[in-house]
Amino acid sequence: MAARILDGRAMAARWRDWVKAQVEAFRARTGQVPGLATVLIGDHPASQTYVRAKQSACAAAGIRTFSHCLPADVDRGTVLELVEALARNPEVHGILVQLPLPPHLDEEEILSAIPLEKDVDGFHPLNIGRLGLKGKDPYFIPCTPLGILAMLQEVGIPITGRRAVILGRSRIVGLPMALLLLRFDATVTICHSRTPDLGSVTRQADLLIAAAGRPGLVRGEMIQPGAVVIDVGINRVVDPQAPQGYRLVGDVVFEEAAAVASAITPVPGGVGPMTVAMLLVNTLKAAQRQVEGFASPWLEPFLSKTSGEADRLQPNAPKA
Ligand code: GUN
Repeated sequence: MAARILDGRAMAARWRDWVKAQVEAFRARTGQVPGLATVLIGDHPASQTYVRAKQSACAAAGIRTFSHCLPADVDRGTVLELVEALARNPEVHGILVQLPLPPHLDEEEILSAIPLEKDVDGFHPLNIGRLGLKGKDPYFIPCTPLGILAMLQEVGIPITGRRAVILGRSRIVGLPMALLLLRFDATVTICHSRTPDLGSVTRQADLLIAAAGRPGLVRGEMIQPGAVVIDVGINRVVDPQAPQGYRLVGDVVFEEAAAVASAITPVPGGVGPMTVAMLLVNTLKAAQRQVEGFASPWLEPFLSKTSGEADRLQPNAPKA
């Protein structure tokens, strides 16, 4: 069986065009442009690349960016002061603190300082909590899980009643992905570094989402024939032939998996571009809510599984 390749670049390009048109309409209505502040701490090369990609996608869509780079040894007070200043700035509708943070900074404390209505990454503990609660909507769904959901929806891959296995339990992907799939009534299993006999679990998956950050973790024999495989890993492996001395590979051994799966996302060009596109969507929504008091409908496909409540929230709504 030759798997269908899910082209994240093409899908993301359509979302970016959609956001661009929405941003233009927003500007015409309000005289304002959506604004995203990025906070990058330290000189982690992959983080620098990701933040640059996010900023240039914003620029292409007409979203203004406010770039803040802080040294790796910055103290917590300085970071909190910056986040609090961005929280007060009416031109900043979304705040993104790039992860991972240097080890001396408390991720929880810093992410908690972002107001819920500007938390376009959806990483605030209350947004994550609301994602997991029946009848509650988060203000924002984290961009990578949201991008994966958008891809599955676009190609008509069913979720309800399917067995989903997620490798990895991070705040960025694994945990919110599990909560999101639960909202769609999948049967969800999360595996991690302490899960014994990984293959026996992954072979039960109709939908396998690899977000462990380990190149080559998922081999062909670990995949149920016909499963859908979503590879979230973006790992740099040394390659002297490559222009930069490395190449990007996912967590899945692509050729082996593509021979068994019914559909698969490539790396690069799969989930990554959709993550960036969903950041634009979330930033647009943040601006609409803060300036106009409502947002254009929460990505239509998701309406059936959210109450729409978050789109009606006012900027100064209660924090929980
Ligand atoms: N680090 C890796 N992915 C992400 C992301 O989507 N958002 C943030 N803030 N940090 C990340």
